[in-house]
Amino acid sequence: MCGIVGYVGALPACSILIDGLKRLEYRGYDSAGIAVNEDGQFEIVRAKGKIASLEALLGACALSGTVGIGHTRWATHGRPSETNAHPHRAGRAVVVHNGIIENYLEIKGALTAAGKVFASETDTEVIAQLVNKLLEDGLEPLEAIRRTCNELKGSFAVGVLIEDRPGILYGMRNECPLIVGFGENGTFLASDAPAILNHTQRMVFMDDREIVAIRSTGADFYNFDGMAVTKEVHTVDMNPVMAEKGGYKHFMLKEIFEQPRAVTDTFRGRISEEKGEVYLDGLTISDEEVMKLRRIVIIACGTSFHAGLVGRRIIESLTRIPVEVDLASEFRYRDPIVEEGTLIVSISQSGETADTIAATKEGAVRGGKVVAICNVIGSSLSRLASHGVIYTHAGPEIGVASTKAFTTQIAVLYLLALYLGKRRGLLDEQRMRDLLADLVRLPGMMEQALETSTQLAKMARRYEAHTSFLYLGRGINTAIAYEGALKLKEISYIHAEAYAGGEMKHGPIALISEEMPVVAILSRDRVYEKMLGNMEEVRSRGGILLVFSAGVGDPVVQTMTQDVVTVPSSNEYLTAIVLTLPLQLLAYHIADFKGTDVDQPRNLAKSVTVE
Ligand code: AGP
Repeated sequence: MCGIVGYVGALPACSILIDGLKRLEYRGYDSAGIAVNEDGQFEIVRAKGKIASLEALLGACALSGTVGIGHTRWATHGRPSETNAHPHRAGRAVVVHNGIIENYLEIKGALTAAGKVFASETDTEVIAQLVNKLLEDGLEPLEAIRRTCNELKGSFAVGVLIEDRPGILYGMRNECPLIVGFGENGTFLASDAPAILNHTQRMVFMDDREIVAIRSTGADFYNFDGMAVTKEVHTVDMNPVMAEKGGYKHFMLKEIFEQPRAVTDTFRGRISEEKGEVYLDGLTISDEEVMKLRRIVIIACGTSFHAGLVGRRIIESLTRIPVEVDLASEFRYRDPIVEEGTLIVSISQSGETADTIAATKEGAVRGGKVVAICNVIGSSLSRLASHGVIYTHAGPEIGVASTKAFTTQIAVLYLLALYLGKRRGLLDEQRMRDLLADLVRLPGMMEQALETSTQLAKMARRYEAHTSFLYLGRGINTAIAYEGALKLKEISYIHAEAYAGGEMKHGPIALISEEMPVVAILSRDRVYEKMLGNMEEVRSRGGILLVFSAGVGDPVVQTMTQDVVTVPSSNEYLTAIVLTLPLQLLAYHIADFKGTDVDQPRNLAKSVTVE
């Protein structure tokens, strides 16, 4: 997720762009840049690192041009660097982009064959190259931009300047937010309201498949077919701080609701349903090495460890490769056995967790092939991966409690399982198509699961005063129970622990009382009846049952408790992701009612870079 800002007006653009980018820094902060049209010539300044690095480069904003675009980046293609920073230029076109162009390699190949030379590793540069080529072919800017939009596949919000059209700024939107603001001193383009709220509250929210041509005095809107469209101007009544959270009270809540988009962005461009294929460009394991794999060891901490537990079930089921999952802090000190044919899969949202980095090095030294699953391109862990990195495209996760990183990590592990299973001859084309169709349907199910938020807020109000919770799951849902318990304890400070349901009779059942809510996670899998039995054990001893059910459960469930949260059911692997969302929301609403610091809970850090 990146931040875009643009301006056309009477004032110098430079300081307006920098100020706007600072207000969008939460959307990404690994590099930044601006382009200003100075008397018909582009001045482009870019810097790796946060916006402060760009500011230092710009000095006192000596650029006087009154038309410009700016960008703060969250890398998805191409590591953070000045070369990969936006804006990207090709001839007369300068571009900033938020989103993921699915078919960028195809376009890049065709343009390269036509003699175009690319400077960066990004998907964004193909937009600038394509616009410029169409201009060279004699098309007018608006038509060149329209034709480009129809060539691109994927999600994009784009700002474009054309060198010999100094008074116009173009914008294009498909599946990524893009706003046009109308101020007293000019007209603005932005990814999000915070960037321009200090200049205007009068905004148009563009819709998918729309183009805008912005002038200092206003803007004209078109669809991708070239038809003019009329847009309503809204007055945004939101303070900049709230706006930074997209109108949500906390970043964590915003990020919970971003998960359908984050999962979509994570698999977008990596699958072909038609061919039944998964493409993991970041992997460098040969097919021969895949055939020789004898064991996979997943290493991680905290929520990433829980994702690994889910991944184990998926990978073992679809590839029949034995998988073990270990806490990084344990693995590094247990003199681990790493024999020939072992693949180490290290999972880390930040890519900077000290224990995970150290354990990964330990595994590598002992001969393990290393693949990393990270959310930050160029992070320390990503540089340790001898056999490649598979990035989650979750965008920056600001809330300390991990949410969208968790669900996108599971999505990546699912892709990895399909990738390995197919190459080991265990998944034929039809099976691959079916499993990929389930993945494509998943974001819609996640959206439905998020609709339980109001029900969960009411449930949270009833149970916030309790001082201990027990979470139960079986099979793949045991890992979801662990994750649900972690979410509750780390943001509400209420004690919570998780158990495999089958363990109840081996001790935890002694805990059951009317004082302790028991969260039971239920899905129509091979242990469904067993889980019903565990729920009955709780109810018959007077325990409090909160049931989170994937798919409509038996009517018997409704006789056990009034607190039943039902979400859609996907296949036996992906249902775990759908069930996670209401558990995140329960923890969030309880913490919110308790008034804890949800985004920055006490004693915690977003990235634990020390032992
Ligand atoms: C998750 O909510 C916690 N913030 C924490 O357990 C986190 O998952 C853990 O520290 C690992 O972080 P990483 O994914 O960045 O390595």
